Amino acid sequence: MKTRITELLGIKYPVIQGGMAWVAEANLAAAVSEAGALGLIGGANAPAEVVRNEIRRAKLRTDKPVGVNVMLLSPHADEVSDVIVEEGVKIVTTGAGNPEKYMNKWKRAGVKVIPVVASVALAKRMERYGADAVVAEGMESGGHIGEQTTMTLVPQIVDAVEIPVIAAGGIGDGRGFAAAFMLGAEAVQMGTRFVVAKESICHENYKQRILNAKDIDSAVTGRSHGHPIRSLRNQMTKEYRKKEEAGASFEELELLTLGSLRNAVVDGDVKNGTVMAGQIAGLIKKEQTCNEIIEEIMSEANRLLKTDYWKGSSYE
Ligand SMILES: Cc1cc2nc3c(=O)[nH]c(=O)nc-3n(C[C@H](O)[C@H](O)[C@H](O)COP(=O)(O)O)c2cc1C
Repeated sequence: MKTRITELLGIKYPVIQGGMAWVAEANLAAAVSEAGALGLIGGANAPAEVVRNEIRRAKLRTDKPVGVNVMLLSPHADEVSDVIVEEGVKIVTTGAGNPEKYMNKWKRAGVKVIPVVASVALAKRMERYGADAVVAEGMESGGHIGEQTTMTLVPQIVDAVEIPVIAAGGIGDGRGFAAAFMLGAEAVQMGTRFVVAKESICHENYKQRILNAKDIDSAVTGRSHGHPIRSLRNQMTKEYRKKEEAGASFEELELLTLGSLRNAVVDGDVKNGTVMAGQIAGLIKKEQTCNEIIEEIMSEANRLLKTDYWKGSSYE
Protein backbone atom coordinates (compact mmCIF):
# COMPACT_ATOMS: atom_id res chain seq x y z
CA MET A 1 0.00 0.00 0.00
CA LYS A 2 1.54 3.28 -1.13
CA THR A 3 0.60 6.66 0.33
CA ARG A 4 2.42 9.97 0.59
CA ILE A 5 3.57 8.81 4.04
CA THR A 6 5.13 5.53 2.85
CA GLU A 7 6.95 7.53 0.16
CA LEU A 8 8.03 10.32 2.52
CA LEU A 9 9.37 7.96 5.17
CA GLY A 10 10.61 5.12 2.98
CA ILE A 11 8.51 2.45 4.69
CA LYS A 12 6.51 -0.50 3.34
CA TYR A 13 3.36 -0.08 5.45
CA PRO A 14 1.68 3.19 6.51
CA VAL A 15 1.87 2.31 10.19
CA ILE A 16 3.81 4.14 12.91
CA GLN A 17 4.52 2.96 16.45
CA GLY A 18 3.99 5.95 18.75
CA GLY A 19 7.03 7.30 20.60
CA MET A 20 6.00 6.22 24.08
CA ALA A 21 7.81 7.35 27.22
CA TRP A 22 9.69 4.44 28.88
CA VAL A 23 8.12 1.89 26.50
CA ALA A 24 9.43 2.90 23.08
CA GLU A 25 13.11 1.98 23.38
CA ALA A 26 15.48 0.60 20.76
CA ASN A 27 14.28 -3.00 20.88
CA LEU A 28 10.62 -2.19 20.17
CA ALA A 29 11.35 0.55 17.62
CA ALA A 30 13.76 -1.67 15.66
CA ALA A 31 11.30 -4.60 15.67
CA VAL A 32 8.54 -2.39 14.27
CA SER A 33 10.81 -0.97 11.57
CA GLU A 34 12.09 -4.45 10.67
CA ALA A 35 8.44 -5.48 10.16
CA GLY A 36 8.01 -2.77 7.50
CA ALA A 37 6.36 -0.02 9.57
CA LEU A 38 8.06 2.90 11.34
CA GLY A 39 9.43 2.43 14.85
CA LEU A 40 10.02 5.46 17.04
CA ILE A 41 12.25 5.88 20.07
CA GLY A 42 10.44 7.84 22.77
CA GLY A 43 12.69 10.67 23.97
CA ALA A 44 10.32 11.53 26.85
CA ASN A 45 12.22 13.25 29.69
CA ALA A 46 15.39 11.26 29.11
CA PRO A 47 18.78 13.02 29.04
CA ALA A 48 20.31 13.49 25.59
CA GLU A 49 22.97 10.78 26.08
CA VAL A 50 20.31 8.19 26.92
CA VAL A 51 18.47 9.04 23.69
CA ARG A 52 21.76 8.89 21.74
CA ASN A 53 22.43 5.44 23.16
CA GLU A 54 18.94 4.21 22.18
CA ILE A 55 19.40 5.53 18.62
CA ARG A 56 22.70 3.66 18.35
CA ARG A 57 21.21 0.47 19.81
CA ALA A 58 18.36 0.62 17.28
CA LYS A 59 20.82 1.05 14.42
CA LEU A 60 22.57 -2.17 15.47
CA ARG A 61 19.25 -4.02 15.17
CA THR A 62 17.93 -2.69 11.86
CA ASP A 63 19.05 -0.91 8.68
CA LYS A 64 15.52 0.39 8.16
CA PRO A 65 14.50 3.92 9.19
CA VAL A 66 13.85 4.48 12.89
CA GLY A 67 12.58 7.86 14.13
CA VAL A 68 12.63 9.71 17.44
CA ASN A 69 9.75 11.32 19.33
CA VAL A 70 10.83 14.51 21.06
CA MET A 71 8.78 15.47 24.08
CA LEU A 72 8.89 19.25 23.91
CA LEU A 73 8.22 19.74 27.64
CA SER A 74 11.36 17.76 28.49
CA PRO A 75 14.09 19.77 30.24
CA HIS A 76 16.50 18.05 27.80
CA ALA A 77 14.59 18.88 24.60
CA ASP A 78 17.27 21.33 23.33
CA GLU A 79 20.09 18.79 23.68
CA VAL A 80 17.96 15.97 22.26
CA SER A 81 17.19 18.14 19.22
CA ASP A 82 20.98 18.33 18.58
CA VAL A 83 21.52 14.60 19.14
CA ILE A 84 18.99 13.92 16.39
CA VAL A 85 21.08 15.88 13.90
CA GLU A 86 24.41 14.47 15.16
CA GLU A 87 23.21 10.86 14.93
CA GLY A 88 21.74 11.31 11.46
CA VAL A 89 18.13 10.55 12.45
CA LYS A 90 15.89 11.42 9.51
CA ILE A 91 12.40 11.29 11.03
CA VAL A 92 11.18 13.16 14.10
CA THR A 93 7.76 13.39 15.68
CA THR A 94 7.12 15.91 18.43
CA GLY A 95 4.72 15.76 21.35
CA ALA A 96 3.30 18.13 23.95
CA GLY A 97 3.73 21.46 22.22
CA ASN A 98 5.07 23.42 19.34
CA PRO A 99 8.43 22.50 17.73
CA GLU A 100 8.88 25.77 15.80
CA LYS A 101 12.20 26.68 17.35
CA TYR A 102 13.87 23.47 16.09
CA MET A 103 12.30 23.47 12.65
CA ASN A 104 15.05 25.32 10.70
CA LYS A 105 17.85 23.26 12.23
CA TRP A 106 16.10 19.97 11.49
CA LYS A 107 15.05 20.93 7.96
CA ARG A 108 18.64 21.96 7.12
CA ALA A 109 19.78 18.50 8.25
CA GLY A 110 17.18 16.79 6.04
CA VAL A 111 15.04 15.61 8.96
CA LYS A 112 11.35 14.98 8.20
CA VAL A 113 9.38 16.70 10.95
CA ILE A 114 5.99 15.38 12.00
CA PRO A 115 4.35 17.19 14.93
CA VAL A 116 1.58 15.49 16.90
CA VAL A 117 -1.40 17.87 17.02
CA ALA A 118 -4.82 17.84 18.65
CA SER A 119 -6.41 20.81 16.85
CA VAL A 120 -6.91 22.21 13.36
CA ALA A 121 -5.26 25.50 14.34
CA LEU A 122 -2.00 23.83 15.41
CA ALA A 123 -2.00 21.60 12.31
CA LYS A 124 -2.26 24.68 10.04
CA ARG A 125 0.43 26.48 11.97
CA MET A 126 2.78 23.48 11.73
CA GLU A 127 2.20 23.31 7.97
CA ARG A 128 3.12 27.00 7.66
CA TYR A 129 6.36 26.35 9.56
CA GLY A 130 7.36 23.55 7.19
CA ALA A 131 6.13 20.33 8.84
CA ASP A 132 6.21 17.39 6.41
CA ALA A 133 3.08 15.77 7.84
CA VAL A 134 1.10 15.84 11.08
CA VAL A 135 -0.18 13.19 13.45
CA ALA A 136 -3.81 14.06 14.29
CA GLU A 137 -4.24 12.51 17.72
CA GLY A 138 -7.69 12.06 19.22
CA MET A 139 -8.51 11.90 22.93
CA GLU A 140 -9.07 8.13 22.81
CA SER A 141 -5.25 7.81 22.98
CA GLY A 142 -3.14 6.67 25.86
CA GLY A 143 -0.89 9.30 27.47
CA HIS A 144 -1.25 13.09 27.06
CA ILE A 145 -4.44 13.94 25.23
CA GLY A 146 -6.40 16.81 23.71
CA GLU A 147 -10.18 17.23 23.71
CA GLN A 148 -11.27 16.17 20.20
CA THR A 149 -12.03 12.59 19.19
CA THR A 150 -10.15 10.90 16.35
CA MET A 151 -13.40 10.59 14.37
CA THR A 152 -13.98 14.36 14.41
CA LEU A 153 -10.39 15.61 14.36
CA VAL A 154 -8.91 13.65 11.45
CA PRO A 155 -11.30 14.77 8.65
CA GLN A 156 -11.22 18.38 9.83
CA ILE A 157 -7.41 18.44 9.74
CA VAL A 158 -7.38 16.59 6.39
CA ASP A 159 -9.57 19.38 4.97
CA ALA A 160 -7.50 22.14 6.52
CA VAL A 161 -3.96 21.22 5.38
CA GLU A 162 -2.23 20.05 2.19
CA ILE A 163 0.40 17.90 3.92
CA PRO A 164 -0.44 14.25 4.67
CA VAL A 165 -2.23 13.38 7.91
CA ILE A 166 -1.53 10.38 10.15
CA ALA A 167 -4.43 9.34 12.40
CA ALA A 168 -3.80 8.34 16.03
CA GLY A 169 -5.97 7.45 18.98
CA GLY A 170 -8.21 4.42 19.29
CA ILE A 171 -6.77 2.43 16.39
CA GLY A 172 -6.04 -1.18 17.27
CA ASP A 173 -6.88 -3.36 14.29
CA GLY A 174 -7.56 -3.40 10.54
CA ARG A 175 -11.03 -1.94 11.03
CA GLY A 176 -9.60 1.08 12.82
CA PHE A 177 -6.96 1.42 10.09
CA ALA A 178 -9.60 1.29 7.33
CA ALA A 179 -11.81 3.79 9.17
CA ALA A 180 -8.90 6.21 9.50
CA PHE A 181 -8.26 5.95 5.76
CA MET A 182 -11.95 6.64 5.08
CA LEU A 183 -11.50 9.86 7.09
CA GLY A 184 -8.65 10.86 4.77
CA ALA A 185 -5.63 9.71 6.78
CA GLU A 186 -2.63 8.36 4.86
CA ALA A 187 -1.17 6.37 7.76
CA VAL A 188 -2.00 5.43 11.32
CA GLN A 189 -0.03 5.72 14.55
CA MET A 190 -0.71 3.19 17.30
CA GLY A 191 0.56 3.17 20.85
CA THR A 192 -1.46 0.89 23.10
CA ARG A 193 -1.38 -2.11 20.76
CA PHE A 194 2.41 -1.99 20.58
CA VAL A 195 2.80 -1.79 24.36
CA VAL A 196 1.79 -5.46 24.50
CA ALA A 197 4.03 -6.55 21.61
CA LYS A 198 6.34 -9.47 22.44
CA GLU A 199 9.37 -7.25 21.77
CA SER A 200 8.08 -4.55 24.16
CA ILE A 201 10.18 -4.40 27.34
CA CYS A 202 7.14 -3.29 29.31
CA HIS A 203 6.61 -5.23 32.57
CA GLU A 204 4.35 -8.29 32.28
CA ASN A 205 1.92 -6.83 34.87
CA TYR A 206 1.42 -3.77 32.64
CA LYS A 207 0.81 -5.94 29.58
CA GLN A 208 -1.66 -8.12 31.49
CA ARG A 209 -3.53 -5.04 32.73
CA ILE A 210 -4.04 -3.96 29.09
CA LEU A 211 -4.92 -7.47 27.90
CA ASN A 212 -7.54 -7.78 30.66
CA ALA A 213 -8.95 -4.25 30.26
CA LYS A 214 -12.60 -3.60 29.46
CA ASP A 215 -13.89 -0.83 27.19
CA ILE A 216 -14.60 1.51 30.12
CA ASP A 217 -11.38 0.90 32.05
CA SER A 218 -9.48 4.10 31.24
CA ALA A 219 -9.66 7.37 33.16
CA VAL A 220 -8.42 10.88 32.49
CA THR A 221 -6.47 12.68 35.21
CA GLY A 222 -4.98 16.18 35.16
CA ARG A 223 -7.78 18.09 33.41
CA SER A 224 -7.86 20.58 36.30
CA HIS A 225 -4.38 21.91 35.47
CA GLY A 226 -4.61 21.64 31.70
CA HIS A 227 -2.45 18.54 31.12
CA PRO A 228 -4.89 15.64 30.84
CA ILE A 229 -3.48 12.11 30.71
CA ARG A 230 -5.34 8.90 29.87
CA SER A 231 -4.38 5.76 31.78
CA LEU A 232 -6.07 2.64 33.09
CA ARG A 233 -8.04 3.02 36.31
CA ASN A 234 -6.29 1.95 39.50
CA GLN A 235 -5.61 3.12 43.04
CA MET A 236 -3.50 6.00 41.70
CA THR A 237 -6.16 7.40 39.31
CA LYS A 238 -8.76 7.06 42.07
CA GLU A 239 -6.68 9.01 44.55
CA TYR A 240 -5.67 11.57 41.92
CA ARG A 241 -9.26 12.22 40.89
CA LYS A 242 -10.32 12.55 44.52
CA LYS A 243 -7.61 15.15 45.15
CA GLU A 244 -8.44 16.96 41.91
CA GLU A 245 -12.08 17.20 42.88
CA ALA A 246 -11.05 18.56 46.28
CA GLY A 247 -9.10 21.34 44.50
CA ALA A 248 -5.52 20.11 45.13
CA SER A 249 -2.70 22.27 43.72
CA PHE A 250 -0.70 21.32 40.65
CA GLU A 251 2.36 20.68 42.84
CA GLU A 252 0.47 18.32 45.14
CA LEU A 253 -0.89 16.37 42.19
CA GLU A 254 2.53 16.22 40.55
CA LEU A 255 3.96 14.61 43.69
CA LEU A 256 1.44 11.80 43.32
CA THR A 257 2.65 10.89 39.83
CA LEU A 258 6.36 11.57 40.15
CA GLY A 259 8.12 8.59 38.53
CA SER A 260 4.82 6.71 38.38
CA LEU A 261 4.98 5.72 34.69
CA ARG A 262 8.44 4.28 35.25
CA ASN A 263 7.17 2.40 38.32
CA ALA A 264 4.45 0.77 36.21
CA VAL A 265 6.49 0.07 33.05
CA VAL A 266 9.75 -1.03 34.68
CA ASP A 267 8.75 -2.36 38.13
CA GLY A 268 5.25 -3.57 37.24
CA ASP A 269 3.47 -1.52 39.93
CA VAL A 270 0.10 -1.36 38.19
CA LYS A 271 -1.75 -0.40 41.40
CA ASN A 272 -0.01 2.85 42.30
CA GLY A 273 1.86 3.51 39.07
CA THR A 274 0.53 5.20 35.92
CA VAL A 275 -0.64 2.58 33.40
CA MET A 276 -0.89 4.83 30.34
CA ALA A 277 -3.09 3.21 27.71
CA GLY A 278 -5.89 4.23 25.39
CA GLN A 279 -9.59 3.40 25.20
CA ILE A 280 -8.77 0.72 22.62
CA ALA A 281 -7.14 -1.40 25.37
CA GLY A 282 -10.44 -3.29 25.70
CA LEU A 283 -10.02 -4.62 22.15
CA ILE A 284 -6.49 -5.92 22.60
CA LYS A 285 -6.53 -9.53 23.72
CA LYS A 286 -3.21 -11.11 22.78
CA GLU A 287 0.49 -10.54 22.93
CA GLN A 288 2.00 -10.88 19.44
CA THR A 289 5.25 -10.02 17.73
CA CYS A 290 5.42 -6.65 15.96
CA ASN A 291 5.52 -8.53 12.68
CA GLU A 292 2.31 -10.44 13.52
CA ILE A 293 0.54 -7.25 14.65
CA ILE A 294 1.44 -5.33 11.51
CA GLU A 295 0.75 -8.16 9.05
CA GLU A 296 -2.62 -8.90 10.69
CA ILE A 297 -3.71 -5.24 10.58
CA MET A 298 -2.58 -4.76 6.99
CA SER A 299 -4.28 -7.88 5.69
CA GLU A 300 -7.55 -7.01 7.45
CA ALA A 301 -7.39 -3.39 6.27
CA ASN A 302 -6.60 -4.42 2.69
CA ARG A 303 -9.59 -6.75 2.69
CA LEU A 304 -11.90 -4.03 4.01
CA LEU A 305 -10.64 -1.25 1.77
CA LYS A 306 -10.48 -3.28 -1.43
CA THR A 307 -13.73 -5.17 -1.29
CA ASP A 308 -17.39 -4.19 -1.26
CA TYR A 309 -17.66 -5.49 2.32
CA TRP A 310 -19.33 -2.29 3.57
CA LYS A 311 -21.97 -2.43 0.83
CA GLY A 312 -23.48 -5.48 2.49
CA SER A 313 -24.99 -3.22 5.15
CA SER A 314 -28.73 -2.87 5.64
CA TYR A 315 -28.65 0.49 3.87
CA GLU A 316 -28.41 -1.24 0.47
C1 LIG B 1 2.52 4.30 27.57
C2 LIG B 1 2.35 5.44 26.59
C3 LIG B 1 3.29 6.47 26.60
C4 LIG B 1 3.19 7.51 25.66
N1 LIG B 1 4.16 8.49 25.64
C5 LIG B 1 4.16 9.42 24.64
C6 LIG B 1 5.23 10.36 24.52
O1 LIG B 1 6.19 10.36 25.31
N2 LIG B 1 5.20 11.26 23.48
C7 LIG B 1 4.16 11.27 22.56
O2 LIG B 1 4.15 12.09 21.63
N3 LIG B 1 3.12 10.39 22.68
C8 LIG B 1 3.12 9.47 23.68
N4 LIG B 1 2.09 8.55 23.76
C9 LIG B 1 1.03 8.54 22.71
C10 LIG B 1 1.41 7.55 21.58
O3 LIG B 1 2.58 7.94 20.93
C11 LIG B 1 0.28 7.41 20.53
O4 LIG B 1 0.07 8.60 19.81
C12 LIG B 1 -1.03 6.99 21.18
O5 LIG B 1 -0.80 5.93 22.07
C13 LIG B 1 -2.04 6.57 20.11
O6 LIG B 1 -3.24 6.16 20.67
P1 LIG B 1 -3.60 4.63 21.10
O7 LIG B 1 -2.96 4.45 22.43
O8 LIG B 1 -5.07 4.63 21.15
O9 LIG B 1 -3.02 3.73 20.04
C14 LIG B 1 2.12 7.53 24.72
C15 LIG B 1 1.17 6.50 24.75
C16 LIG B 1 1.26 5.46 25.66
C17 LIG B 1 0.23 4.35 25.64
